[in-house]
Amino acid sequence: MQLLTMDLDTFSQASLLGFAALTAYILTLLPTNLIIVFPITKKTGCPQWLLKYRRLIGLLSFFLAVLHGFIFFKKRNFDLFDIKTYFVYFQGVATFIIFSLLAITSNDWSVKRLKKNWKKLQRLTYLAMFLVTWHILDKMAYHWTYLTPVGIAAITAIIVLFLCRLLIQRQSRSQKNQPKESKVTVENKSVG
Ligand code: HEM
Repeated sequence: MQLLTMDLDTFSQASLLGFAALTAYILTLLPTNLIIVFPITKKTGCPQWLLKYRRLIGLLSFFLAVLHGFIFFKKRNFDLFDIKTYFVYFQGVATFIIFSLLAITSNDWSVKRLKKNWKKLQRLTYLAMFLVTWHILDKMAYHWTYLTPVGIAAITAIIVLFLCRLLIQRQSRSQKNQPKESKVTVENKSVG
């Protein structure tokens, strides 16, 4: 493995932009997951601060991703009209489309217009989490830079945090349903 042999490459400006986009994106995912998994972090005021500026940080991530993608499109002379380009860069392009949708709808007007669908749309951010991991692992295979292990460690940490959050939410939902279930059992017993 590249990391063990410490055979890491230096990174380009475009890679640095991708890494910066990833960092900003992770910051948008952090607050809600932190509050649910580690409620104690609320005492630091950090999750609240990130929540306050989440929209701005999300937009920053989008613009950094635009620059990152644009440089590679120019540098590698991608043919935008060739479907193969989109197959090769499927994960990056799919993540980018999700980022674009989130950026376009990250305003009060869209929240009001889209109503319940706005929340559904925002959930695409969790799909992007897996797509971007795939993108990095695929595109950086066999030529990791100094940024790659940091990026992979950070996105893996947020995925683990997200899975813990799902588990906690599932548990608290089933706990809420428990009194109803035991009531039904008691009622059934008395009927029997
Ligand atoms: C149009 C969409 C995209 C294209 C064409 C694209 C292209 C690429 C390419 C070609 C690489 C490999 C760089 C190399 O060989 O040195 C790469 C790496 C990377 N990309 Fe993207 N990308 C896109 C979208 C994104 C998005 C949306 C993110 C957002 C978070 C992202 C984050 C990264 C990161 C973190 C790396 C690894 C950099 C490193 O470890 O040095 N990319 N991308």
